[in-house]
Parts: sequence; C-alpha cells; structure tokens
Amino acid sequence: MRGGGRLPGMTTLLPTFPTHDEIPEAARIDTSSFERTWLVNGEVRRWQGPTQEVRSPVCLRRADGTHERALVGHLAALDEAAAREALGAARRAWDDGRGTWPSMRVGERIARTERFVEGMKKVRETVVRLLMWEIGKTRKDAETEFDRTVQYIDDTLEALKELDRTSGRFVVQEGFLAQIRRSPLGTVLCMGPFNYPLNETFTTLVPALVMGNTIVSKLPRYGALLHLPLLEAFAEAFPPGVVNVVSGDGPTVVGPMMSSGQIDCLAFIGTSRVANLLTTQHPKPNRLRTITGLEAKNPAIILPDADLDVAVAECVGGALTFNGQRCTALKQIFVHRDVADAFVPRFAEAVDALPAGMPWTSGAKLTPLPEDGKCARLAELVADAESHGAVKVNRGGVAHETFYRPAVLHHVSPRARLYTEEQFGPIVPIATFDRDEEIDAFMRASSYGQQVALFGRDPKRMAGLVDALVNQVSRINLNTQCRRGPDTFPFTGRKDSAEGTLSVSDALRAFSIRAVVAATTNEANEKLVTDVVTGRLSSFLSTDFVF
Ligand code: G3H
Repeated sequence: MRGGGRLPGMTTLLPTFPTHDEIPEAARIDTSSFERTWLVNGEVRRWQGPTQEVRSPVCLRRADGTHERALVGHLAALDEAAAREALGAARRAWDDGRGTWPSMRVGERIARTERFVEGMKKVRETVVRLLMWEIGKTRKDAETEFDRTVQYIDDTLEALKELDRTSGRFVVQEGFLAQIRRSPLGTVLCMGPFNYPLNETFTTLVPALVMGNTIVSKLPRYGALLHLPLLEAFAEAFPPGVVNVVSGDGPTVVGPMMSSGQIDCLAFIGTSRVANLLTTQHPKPNRLRTITGLEAKNPAIILPDADLDVAVAECVGGALTFNGQRCTALKQIFVHRDVADAFVPRFAEAVDALPAGMPWTSGAKLTPLPEDGKCARLAELVADAESHGAVKVNRGGVAHETFYRPAVLHHVSPRARLYTEEQFGPIVPIATFDRDEEIDAFMRASSYGQQVALFGRDPKRMAGLVDALVNQVSRINLNTQCRRGPDTFPFTGRKDSAEGTLSVSDALRAFSIRAVVAATTNEANEKLVTDVVTGRLSSFLSTDFVF
C-alpha cells in the first residue's frame, strides 16, 4: 500500500518516516565493503554478475513529501553454476565422510567454532544496524537477537562437550562390547527466515556444523546482507568448503542443489508450501533428512477466571512483538463470552497505545514491515474477515507506506480466512467461545500444531484443557504468551508446523546419526580394541573427551 496516506486524526498512531538527513548517526550504515559478496570453498568473492537491490522497510521522505524505500545495498543474484560450485565445495569438504572437517576431533571443531565467534563479535554493531535496516527490527530486539545467537553457540559447544563425554564410554552388553557415537549426516542446506535471519539460521547451521557436517547456507530474501560481514570470520575459522554462503533467486540457486540429490539434510525455516516444493525436488527423498520450522496459528484462550491484567499484557506482547512476525506469535485469541466485554476493550486500548517509530526510535514497539505488498495483503485479510461479520474494535488497520497499524478484529468467524490462515503480521483476530470443547475443535481442525497459551486459574479446568490439547500441539503456556525460549527447551510442532526438534541439545541429535562399532566380547577383540584406544589410532574408537 505504498502511497497510502494518513487518515485525519491518526497522526499519533502512524510514524513519520525520516528524510535522509534525519537518520541518526548511530543508525547509519555503509554496505559498500561487503555487498555482493558470497563464500565458496573458503574464499570470500565479490560477484560480478547481476544483483538484487536490498530495499529497507524504512522509507525516506523526500522534500516533496513522497516516499521511497531506502536502498541498503546489493546482493549477489548468483546463477546456477555458482550454486553448483558452492555445493561442489561442500561435497569435497565432506568427501564421503573422509574430509578434514568430518574426521576432525571434537576438541578441534570446538576450537575452530570459538575462533569464529570471536570474529563474529567484532561485527556486532554492523549486524545490529543491518537488522534494523533490512527487516525493521528495533535496536533493542536486534541486539537481543545477536547476543542470543552468541549465547546459543556457546551453549551448543557446552552441550557438544557433554555429548562427547558420554559417548566416550564403552558399552558391554549381551556378549558384545561397543562404542556408540553420533556421526555427521553429510552436506546440510540451511535456509533461515527473514524474521530472525541471524538467530534462526544459526540455530540450524551451528549444530549442523559442529557435528561435522558441511554446509551450504542460502540467505533469506529479506535479512541477507547482515550475513555478509560474517563471511571473513567463516573463511578464517573453518577449512575450505566447510561453510559456503550463497544468495539469489530460490528456484535458480536452490532448485539445482536439491535436484542434484547431493543434499543429505535440509534445514528450512519458512512455509510448508516451499518446504514441500524443495523436498520433492530431491530425486531420492528417502536419503533426505528434513528439519523444518513452518507456519503456526497459536491461539490464546482467555477463561472466565483469568487475571485480565496478565492476559492483556501477555496477549499484546505475544501477538505484536516484532509486529506479529514471529512463528510463535499469538495469531488468534479465544475469549470466553463471560469476560469478552471486559477483555476486548482493554486489549484494544493497549494495542492502540503501542508506540510506533523507526527501528532506532527509543521505545518504539511497532515498526515498518519488510515484505513487498504486505500492507495490501493484511488489508485483504481484514476486508475478508469484515465481510464475514468481524468488527474492528480499535483505531488500527490503517497503513502508511510500509507501516501497518495493528488491527484488532472481534467476532472473527470460522468462515474468515483469518480464522485459519497465518497472518504473520499485525492483525489480532478475536473470537468468543462458550464451551471449552470449541477450543479442542479449533485445534483438531487446524493445519498447525505448534503452541497454545491458556489464561485462567481454576486448576480443574486448566488441567482439562492441558490434557485435551497437549497431543495436538508441542507446548502449552500457562498464563504466559507462546515463545521459543529458553533455548534449552525443545522447540518443535505438529502437522504443518515443524519437523524435528531444535533445543540446544536436540539440535545436535537432529543433525547427526548414531554409528556403532561393535565386537563380540572375547580376549582377542578386547586386546584389539584396547590397542586401538591406547595407541590413539582412531578418532571414533577412542575414550578421549573434551573437558
Ligand atoms: O519465529 C519464530 C521464533 O523462533 C520465535 O522465537 O518465541 O523467542 O520470539 P521467540
């Protein structure tokens, strides 16, 4: 809805976009030293072919009052040959499991990853500014994303040490002696999303990497430039070909990699439509492991005895943090008829009080949206819900260029698209319910099964809902919003919401397969194994572990 103007009287609800000169010094960014780069076979190269413009969700106001999305930089639009080169480098680094990286001892892999983290920390401020410019994340949330990612890597390395310690033991059972360890899968294609482009890319890339896999990382459509300042740190820390980073049009770059059959594992965060498209391109899907984080339609349930102060605060944060662009966001609220009149106006008022601004505006909670055509799509969803009887109960649902003021809609009918479709943006659909069975029916009919948030106090009723819902979703939150963290908790979903589990320790398992070396227990075999171990002749058959 570019060109959409402000409505009279709405000025406090909509942000003012800056002129070029009004951009604060602490938010300025110059991408010329790293734009158009990619990483292949340990080499950071600058692409000389076609590029894609990276336009910010932040618009710049011209002197005549018109606006234009700010140009942040250019991204390499790699061709098929470049994609094949990156895949070839990753395959050579894997070398059927005999490459330097997959056969390296765990302690050395950890040391290399720590070296990478040191390099990563040096570009923190650049990455934070790019998160603001490329996807409109507030400075505070951008800093949190960066720091949480560093913490995730540290925790992953600790979990790997723990795994290594426990796998260093021999098992003696039923006449066999054996050593059981986790081995890498091969080459992993990692594709992160735009909403947590750093964090969610690294929560698959890093565990896959430290387990000994080789990586091709395909950058997301939005939130890609921020990866480029990290390429030198990758090149410096890891052997050539272990990490390759590519960008460009999905069908051109990803299609040939998938259809080559040389991707052993796909780690993909995005929509189920694209996930299905990619997996079916693989000529032997039985050889492909998929770890995915897909859509969700997490509901909040407000029971009659809920503490409404808590419910309102948690639902506002749960539905609208980062403008609702989180897979874990609350995307539907069910309020019990007995408290609907108390809850809905308070909730709507709290939403209207959320301050809007640019990503660097202190205290801003709402910011412009990065996806092309997003405001128009949101307006369509609102119009469809209204045509089925929904009523807008707040001052939102108005757009200004790339900014969309959150709309709160009550009486959203099951016939409306918003009732079942993931909006992934600032619209909060509310429906009233009478019987708890209606919630159970909603979840049964839903294509998704990630999380729910229950607000209430009656232990018997809460327990009934927990039992009704726990086999339909993967996390139930009591009197608190849905979320992924702490990162040590398992993060997954059912139906079209996810495949595989991604806590710090689960991710190490997801990107590896167990391998066993076993022998019948007899004197000769005991001596053989002892000689291998004491002579430190094998990396696998070993009692070494990392402290
Ligand atoms: O988009 C999905 C993110 O993993 C959500 O993480 O719940 O910590 O915001 P979060």
